[in-house]
Amino acid sequence: MSDKTNMFKAYIDEEAEDKEVKKTDVDKIDNETIEEDKESNSFKSPDKITDDQLSNHQNLFSRSSTRVEIVEDEVHDISSSLPKYILPWHDNISYREKYTQSLIDAGYTTVELIATASSDEIFDATNIPIELVEEMIELSHNWHEFTFDTAASILEKRKDMTRVSTGCASVDHMLGGGIETKSITEFYGEFITGKTQICMQTALMTALPVELGGLDSNVVYIDTEGSFRPERIVQMAAKHKIDPELILKKIFVARAHNSDIQMKLVNNVINLAKHHEIKLLIIDSLTSNFRSEFIGKHSLVERQQKLNRHLQQLMRVADILDLAVVITNQVMSSMDEYDKTVIPVGGNILAHGSTHRIHFTKQGSGTAVRNAKLVASPSLPLSSTSFMITKYGIEDIR
Ligand code: GTP
Ligand code: MG
Repeated sequence: MSDKTNMFKAYIDEEAEDKEVKKTDVDKIDNETIEEDKESNSFKSPDKITDDQLSNHQNLFSRSSTRVEIVEDEVHDISSSLPKYILPWHDNISYREKYTQSLIDAGYTTVELIATASSDEIFDATNIPIELVEEMIELSHNWHEFTFDTAASILEKRKDMTRVSTGCASVDHMLGGGIETKSITEFYGEFITGKTQICMQTALMTALPVELGGLDSNVVYIDTEGSFRPERIVQMAAKHKIDPELILKKIFVARAHNSDIQMKLVNNVINLAKHHEIKLLIIDSLTSNFRSEFIGKHSLVERQQKLNRHLQQLMRVADILDLAVVITNQVMSSMDEYDKTVIPVGGNILAHGSTHRIHFTKQGSGTAVRNAKLVASPSLPLSSTSFMITKYGIEDIR
């Protein structure tokens, strides 16, 4: 394997098998990569991650993706599409191959991702010396243009904006016709208020064919709590009278066992998007890993800084890929002893990071009715609505 080829190990789905690609020994690569990762300390706590989890992360989104190595010919093909997918300094001797590989392993596979990332964020994810990271970012600016757009042209573009349906007319209406692309929409609330249900239903709606009200697009679903249930999507699909298999094949699911993996998965959505159109990225929930890893007041600052980087990263991916980001969030009791209301986790960082925030509450105990209240939005009037959780999913109250 040449040095050059080595740098462009990639994740390609089975469609790529039709092209001239050479499969490598997956186990061998994964073992090598695990060793490399341990060596380069890409993961903060590699000992906490089992080999299975790690190889799951390496293979990233399950479905039918196969890890393959691009043969030399294809590297040249892709090179012609510079600057999108190739890190332009790969021939530069001042950057050892190891650093390029660390970037790719951490999900920084495009110039755009590097050009728009902060040096701290890349340093945290790769452990590449900070001065080299800064140099790489500066180099990437040669390939990535930062320009202005007029408000008029932004308005024109927004008119054509794709919206993702939640499958519940009243919630879509509250959101101005559906969930916006290039934005982060946050559903927060207490347990069993329907956050995961709406995520699964929105995934279904995005994957549905256009004639059935969907976008016929793929979805990325990052599950941090282990609550994703394909069976539930099959149940929800029944009302659309569609073969559920067609839907499930379009939903790429990955389990994020910690916040490092969660962030790497988000960067790797760019890889996946090279071969699949993706209109929706879901993280259910955004905050649970952060909450369990950073405990106590002394780690609050660190947690918030990392959460901030995660949100910036999500916004970048939403922008670059023109997709909708949906996140869920938990709540906690207000610190004010006279105020018995609950507040979303994540403080000001998340309050500013989310574009639209919707608060879900139960309407009494033992009922299937839930309330949804739009509590923050840069463009929509704040309003509320109700829905029901039924065997078909999230439904309007008739
Ligand atoms: P946490 O993740 O624990 O914070 O809660 P959540 O807000 O994500 O809750 P979730 O979306 O999982 O909603 C749980 C609610 O959906 C419960 O009231 C369940 O009874 C209801 N639910 C789940 N599956 C079904 C089903 O098949 N039929 C019906 N009728 N209700 C269901
Ligand atoms: Mg949930």
